[in-house]
Amino acid sequence: MSEPLTTQTVLDYIRGSAEGVAHFGSTEGLRAEALTEGNVNLIFRVTNGHRSLLIKQALPHSWRYPDFKMPVDRAGLEYDVLQLETRWAPEHTVRVYWHDEARHLNAIEDLDQHIVLRAGLIAGREYPNLARHIGRFMAQTLFHTSDLYLPSAEKKHLVQRFTNPVMCKVQEDLVFTQPFTRHPNNRWNPRLDQQVAALHANAALISEVHSLKQAYLAHAQALLHNDLHSGSVLVNAVETRVIDPEFAFFGPIGHDVGSYLANLVLNYAGHEHHSALGATRARYRSWLLEQIRETWTTFEAEFLRLWETEGNAIEWPEPTYRARYLRDVLRDTAGFGATEIVRRTIGLAHVADLDEIPNDEDRASAESLALNVAVAWLTMRPTLTDIHQLVSLTETARPDLAPSR
Ligand SMILES: Nc1ncnc2c1ncn2[C@@H]1O[C@H](COP(=O)(O)OP(=O)(O)OP(=O)(O)O)[C@@H](O)[C@H]1O
Ligand SMILES: [Mg+2]
Repeated sequence: MSEPLTTQTVLDYIRGSAEGVAHFGSTEGLRAEALTEGNVNLIFRVTNGHRSLLIKQALPHSWRYPDFKMPVDRAGLEYDVLQLETRWAPEHTVRVYWHDEARHLNAIEDLDQHIVLRAGLIAGREYPNLARHIGRFMAQTLFHTSDLYLPSAEKKHLVQRFTNPVMCKVQEDLVFTQPFTRHPNNRWNPRLDQQVAALHANAALISEVHSLKQAYLAHAQALLHNDLHSGSVLVNAVETRVIDPEFAFFGPIGHDVGSYLANLVLNYAGHEHHSALGATRARYRSWLLEQIRETWTTFEAEFLRLWETEGNAIEWPEPTYRARYLRDVLRDTAGFGATEIVRRTIGLAHVADLDEIPNDEDRASAESLALNVAVAWLTMRPTLTDIHQLVSLTETARPDLAPSR
């Protein structure tokens, strides 16, 4: 394995690389800073004051949690997925300039005019194009890697390329197993003890989670991003870009859609605190609910449009199957969304939307609300037929615990 880069050696690397020299034109005045917002890879911003790029290097473990071992070839996988995503949704993907296989790194477009969506949502910002952009990104990337579009042999070839077993096992454990058992990695606010005990004792619900885990393991429906949350989206007023597909593999489409919508719900719950005024909170929450609705309706309409215009009509001649397919994706969306909400509330890896609420009572109230949305989504999942039902379940959910005010 190659040495971990530092702010010094990353400059030597750029100066010694043909691609690096070509990118910058002149390597005069090159400087580097480490970006430490992520948990997994080393990331450096390199600039000469006129041009810049990011170097993202994979180590054999997570840099922040060294106990998490991860294969270094995930950098090559991320490169290949970014290429595919760029083919189908270039305006919502980040450019990758080159991949260095020996050093397990990618040189990536620096989106320094964007911020992480999660931060924007916590600040209560509205992005008028967001739902349409994410809906389109998901429809384009998921449809074009499904059996509805790809010839069977090509699809199977891609499934082999993108099995990603070690990264998937991280998700299997952290999303589907640990939060639903008494596992030492879990952590939650003791105020939620009763609610968590009820969840763990609910056999019907745990069985539903098993069925989702089974689908996650065995339903190679399309090439998922597999870490599609508001921390993997960079935004500004006009643009939306999805980054960081290192967990990608072939799985159920509803997992990507559900993870994204779940993170909107986690933010919705967090606005218990982030919006100081009741009227502001109500307005922002209704914007978030509208995001859930519009992201889905855009995704669904675009997916159906692609099926109609580019789908393999010989393999899938019956148009009435389309509505059934999308209905099943909606049900998976609710189920996988619920597991994402639960794991971000009581599992190992939490989200800033909830964790950064300083007042213990308010945080517990927000987390309690999130858990109740998850339970409602999981309970209704087998009979869902319409996105409005999902929105309404979210809107009518209430926390078991009152906030401090
Ligand atoms: N192309 C980019 N342009 C600007 N900033 C970026 C870009 N890619 C990543 N970042 C910044 O670096 C952070 C970490 O990026 P990324 O998520 O790709 O890393 P990671 O090591 O996979 O971490 P994790 O999976 O824990 O989020 C992002 O949250 C963002 O702040
Ligand atoms: Mg990552």
